Amino acid sequence: MHSLVYRSVANESFELSEIYSMLSRAKDYNAKHGITGCLLYHNSQFLQLLEGEKEEIERLFQKILQDPRHHSIVVIENDESDVRLFTAWSMAFYDYGQNGLSAHFKLRQIDTFLSESSIFSKKSTLALQFFSNVKDILFAV
Ligand SMILES: Cc1cc2nc3c(=O)[nH]c(=O)nc-3n(C[C@H](O)[C@H](O)[C@H](O)COP(=O)(O)O)c2cc1C
Repeated sequence: MHSLVYRSVANESFELSEIYSMLSRAKDYNAKHGITGCLLYHNSQFLQLLEGEKEEIERLFQKILQDPRHHSIVVIENDESDVRLFTAWSMAFYDYGQNGLSAHFKLRQIDTFLSESSIFSKKSTLALQFFSNVKDILFAV
């Protein structure tokens, strides 16, 4: 199992409605290729976890790198991993901006992480722990 985490910045013309249609294609592709993960979006910033076989992740990431809809891509984690966190999600998606006040407190910790933490400005093994927390907080059923 391989896990890759990167962050990037959405191009200004990339609207939320287009992100949703991109996601629906992405979920099909990921499901066919044994890829799972999570995409977070806030203030034009993406943070994505991709999980799967190394070759599959590399092939997909090459496409993502060349995608003109975002830029300033920084890899934070790219390594073998013991666990697949998002077993039930071909690509879990969360847009903070679309959520009401009730979600606010739950998200504050994550928001602080994204905007202020140096964890995501350089390579970090804490990225997987972060996504484990995200799963518990945002996607708990
Ligand atoms: C932030 C971001 C995340 C993406 N995540 C995925 C993904 O998880 N799976 C996927 O198939 N495409 C994803 N894409 C879309 C790919 O970059 C690409 O458009 C898609 O794989 C189709 O590529 P193709 O037309 O060359 O086959 C993502 C794009 C962006 C901008």
